[in-house]
Amino acid sequence: MIINKDSFLDAYLQDRRKIVEEALHWYLPTENNTPVEIYKAIHYSVFAGGKRIRPILCLAATEASGGDMAQAMPVACALELIHTYSLIHDDLPSMDNDDFRRGKPTCHKVFGENIAILAGDALLTEAFIVLSRAEKLKFSAEKRLAVIQEISQAAGIAGMVGGQTLDVLSEKSRPDQEVLYEIHRRKTGALIKAAVRSGAIMSNARENKIQALADYGLNIGMAFQIADDILNVEGNRELMGKETGSDTALGKVTYPSLMGMDYAKAELQKHIDAAIASLTIFDKRALPLRLIARYIMERKS
Ligand code: IPE
Ligand code: IPE
Ligand code: MG
Ligand code: MG
Repeated sequence: MIINKDSFLDAYLQDRRKIVEEALHWYLPTENNTPVEIYKAIHYSVFAGGKRIRPILCLAATEASGGDMAQAMPVACALELIHTYSLIHDDLPSMDNDDFRRGKPTCHKVFGENIAILAGDALLTEAFIVLSRAEKLKFSAEKRLAVIQEISQAAGIAGMVGGQTLDVLSEKSRPDQEVLYEIHRRKTGALIKAAVRSGAIMSNARENKIQALADYGLNIGMAFQIADDILNVEGNRELMGKETGSDTALGKVTYPSLMGMDYAKAELQKHIDAAIASLTIFDKRALPLRLIARYIMERKS
């Protein structure tokens, strides 16, 4: 049977987004709690839209490793809560100072800077409540701990927070390509890598498969941020739901700004090819992971 890969992936992403969206409603505390401002702020940002690519990757890695998607759902949701926190803080006036995110005014524009900071803090903390509670899950306490360690390291100084620190420091200096790689690897690559590795860990995958998914995750993570840099120059504001041209305005070091657009596009392609190549030991259950790699390169939003 010949399948159209584009329509297969469109339907797949749409279906997974819906499932993740429903689960997020389930795992996030309801809005009818006090203080109402903080609940409103976290709901506003989590449900403002978003591609849900990190949870989808976690679920896809679980399926590719022969695991149970339902079991992986709380982990997938926790990843999205951490990601949303990172976006709220990334947009703050003292960070990238952005007014527009996921097609809506940023969290601090609607709720004020103090509540936006607290909303980020809340989402990060709620993520670990979801990860540690998940009482109906069948996987062992040992596996759960391994996943918590994986995700906390990726979100912390060794990962996203460290990368964001290097990113803001880079506005005042002119780092070289090695530092730029490190910024992207940590601020974006680490959480994406943790998403797929966690899926494999929960599915009792063998070490060679966990390692292969780590290579895949790091490469698509790098590609994801390089594509984001390219879209910041060439992308469409409406499609992306966030401002374009801001990297140049802030003097951010990016692949296009440091090495030029052609180089950035070649690097993007290189990472995608490497990501797909690292999946050779997987069978056809890894088809979504293979197609998502290509989607990351071609995405417009
Ligand atoms: C944006 O992430 C921040 C980066 C790491 C480049 P996404 O492009 O995944 O943002 P949403 O979740 O779809 O809004
Ligand atoms: C964001 O990087 C990475 C995070 C960890 C939040 P950017 O600052 O380049 O992402 P956008 O363009 O604002 O989404
Ligand atoms: Mg930033
Ligand atoms: Mg930003």
